[in-house]
Amino acid sequence: MKTVHTIAEVRAQVRAWQQAGDSVAFVPTMGNLHEGHITLVREGLKQARHVVCSIFVNPTQFGPNEDFDKYPRTLAEDSAKLAAAGCSLLFVPSVDEMYPAGKTQTVVHVPGLGEALCGKSRPGHFDGVSTVVSKLFNIVPADIALFGEKDFQQLAIIRRMAADLCFPVRIIGVSTVREASGLAMSSRNGYLDASQKQTAAVIYRSLCQARDAIAGGRRDFAAVAAEASANIESAGLVIDYFDIRNGHDLKPAAASDDYLVIATAARLGSTRLIDNVSFSLGKS
Ligand code: PAJ
Repeated sequence: MKTVHTIAEVRAQVRAWQQAGDSVAFVPTMGNLHEGHITLVREGLKQARHVVCSIFVNPTQFGPNEDFDKYPRTLAEDSAKLAAAGCSLLFVPSVDEMYPAGKTQTVVHVPGLGEALCGKSRPGHFDGVSTVVSKLFNIVPADIALFGEKDFQQLAIIRRMAADLCFPVRIIGVSTVREASGLAMSSRNGYLDASQKQTAAVIYRSLCQARDAIAGGRRDFAAVAAEASANIESAGLVIDYFDIRNGHDLKPAAASDDYLVIATAARLGSTRLIDNVSFSLGKS
């Protein structure tokens, strides 16, 4: 696996592969890689000849009081994991390479999908994500790009953005990879000790209970959400939101919807954790 730091180098390599007739998959990340990220790489390799991964802790998607400074940076370990998984090229740009000082003005904003859920407590976060992913799509002209369903709202925004702006890349969503306890793997789990990790498993259990209640016929969504929130809070977490939404447009769920997502964010100590389950309901 080759590692490059400049836009020119990554573009030259991807173009050379494509001129040779080889397909390219792209997996953007912020590093501190775990099995969730590596699954995206493996999925990419099933569908393309080469996988390009980027590691960039993007400052524009962190709020002023968020964890940009303490976000774990573990390049040597990440690099070894990517090489072992079969990644061909790792792109690790500096902040200055991505946002040349004083020269960046354009913001990509996807209205409608980014205001609710995580957007409410993280103003500007999704503009930071859609802007950096647009830049990365232009830097890495891949055939496909893979994103995790773990960040369901992010995936919905990126799908909308890629369609609206005609990015010539196919977006592929990959199922959430979990610990044996059900806890969704996340770089932020590293902020938790072993006992907190066990406690945090209540999030997925409560999501599944809510999903099963709805699959079993309940349509009193507010009550289902309130019960699940109470369950999570009784384990000592503080709920930011627990919402049942239409899985396509993220609008509040209606009883007639056939594809739903139940999404939640909760704090355990100072660590903010997110998770979701999405599911289809047979037409009644
Ligand atoms: P990061 O949090 O590093 O995640 C990179 C990719 O890995 C995202 O597509 C995310 O959804 C996926 N991922 C994380 N945990 C996962 C899990 N448990 N199972 C499956 N996939 C998982 O998301 C970002 O970085 C950034 O916002 C980024 C898109 C790179 C833009 O800066």
